[in-house]
Amino acid sequence: MSQSHVSWKSRWTFILAATGSAVGLGNIWKFPYITGEYGGGAFVLFYLFCIVLIGLPVMMAEILMGRAGNSDPVHSVLKLAEENKRSKTWSIVGIAGVCAGLMILMFYSVVAGWVMEYMYQSASGAYSGATAEQVGANFKGLTDSFGRQLMWHSIFLLFTLAVVAGGVTKGIGKTVEVLMPILFLFLLVLLGYSFAKGDVAAAANFMWQVDFSKLNQDAMLTAMGHAFFTLSLGMGSIMAYGSYMPKDASISKTAFTVAALDTLIAIIAGMAIFPIVFANGLEPGAGPGLMFVSLPAAFGQMPGGALFGGIFFTLVGIAALSSAISLIEPGIAWMEKSGIHRLAATGALGVLVWLGGLASIHSGEIFDLLDNITAKIMLPLGGILIAVFVSWLMKQDTVRQQVDISDGLYTVWLWLLRLVAPIAVSIVLIAGLVEWLGK
Ligand code: TRP
Repeated sequence: MSQSHVSWKSRWTFILAATGSAVGLGNIWKFPYITGEYGGGAFVLFYLFCIVLIGLPVMMAEILMGRAGNSDPVHSVLKLAEENKRSKTWSIVGIAGVCAGLMILMFYSVVAGWVMEYMYQSASGAYSGATAEQVGANFKGLTDSFGRQLMWHSIFLLFTLAVVAGGVTKGIGKTVEVLMPILFLFLLVLLGYSFAKGDVAAAANFMWQVDFSKLNQDAMLTAMGHAFFTLSLGMGSIMAYGSYMPKDASISKTAFTVAALDTLIAIIAGMAIFPIVFANGLEPGAGPGLMFVSLPAAFGQMPGGALFGGIFFTLVGIAALSSAISLIEPGIAWMEKSGIHRLAATGALGVLVWLGGLASIHSGEIFDLLDNITAKIMLPLGGILIAVFVSWLMKQDTVRQQVDISDGLYTVWLWLLRLVAPIAVSIVLIAGLVEWLGK
């Protein structure tokens, strides 16, 4: 193994770090509210379909590129392009990925800031006995307040920068090892509460009753974009982490574990939130405020709700932190490899993201634009390029050697990357763009 590059303690640490990256606001905040907006069942089914047929294969490809490239995303792609006698222009995949990560963090950190205020307010008992309406009014107050959002966004970003400044492998592996299982446990507790007190039948109906007439192009584009977003694919997070993965670890098992955990947590989050939504007559299509209204209202009614709520939002904040780190790390690793001191790189990118956050607090349009351009265009495009590069342009014996699955499965994987992913993603992408531009 190359000594130039640090490595995770074990395969398990990589799984936890990659899971830490994958599991975040995307699962607990975004998945339930987009499921609500796009009408449930058919959307969820299409999303699962995208995870299995596109997300999982692309995740394997991205880990493979990271491990084989053994560097930050830009230098990894450059190295692989040279080794395989391909154009250096391929490094654009890495560069665009770095940009996408920063752009995502510009709104991600704002939402994580909301989580921090909720953490503070829940713990101080602000929601005890509050109705969904009252919590809703409070949420509106928060999103209307530039100052409050700015403060929390700044605090969250500082946390992120502090971890990243210290280097990723030491801090993150440990943190996720302890906290991810606790988060999981808490979701289960919440699920239990939700099943006891919420309208489970209405929720199950909503999430699992498939009505394909609701699956329009925009829903498909959103589902596919979210499959990339939730698995942290298409921008180099997983590539950067993959570069730290031990050479003898199994790419397929690892990717499968991460994707399965991520999906499980999203589904549990949905099944915890929707029963409460329906029992309280809230709107499933309420948008970004969904988690911020239904959950605190539920906690407010629970005995010990202030404590539970405080702990729950703390864990969501931590999940957001372990994701945020992976959004900025590719850029910092790239700058560091290019000779800039890690601290300087962290400072420079931190300022950039902080300013971007200001812009998304200031304007809902900028917030949405950053979200849509990254999730609906940049990540899927990055995903196609990664799939094409690994399956068509890399030497096939090198690739085969890295992937420890049977010949039959390998062929399936290869053709999912060669044809299915690029074609499916292109269709959805083009159709969505046409619709978007036509608006
Ligand atoms: N997957 C994370 C979430 O669901 C967000 C995230 C972290 C991400 N790294 C990423 C999204 C890279 C896209 C690309 O919250």
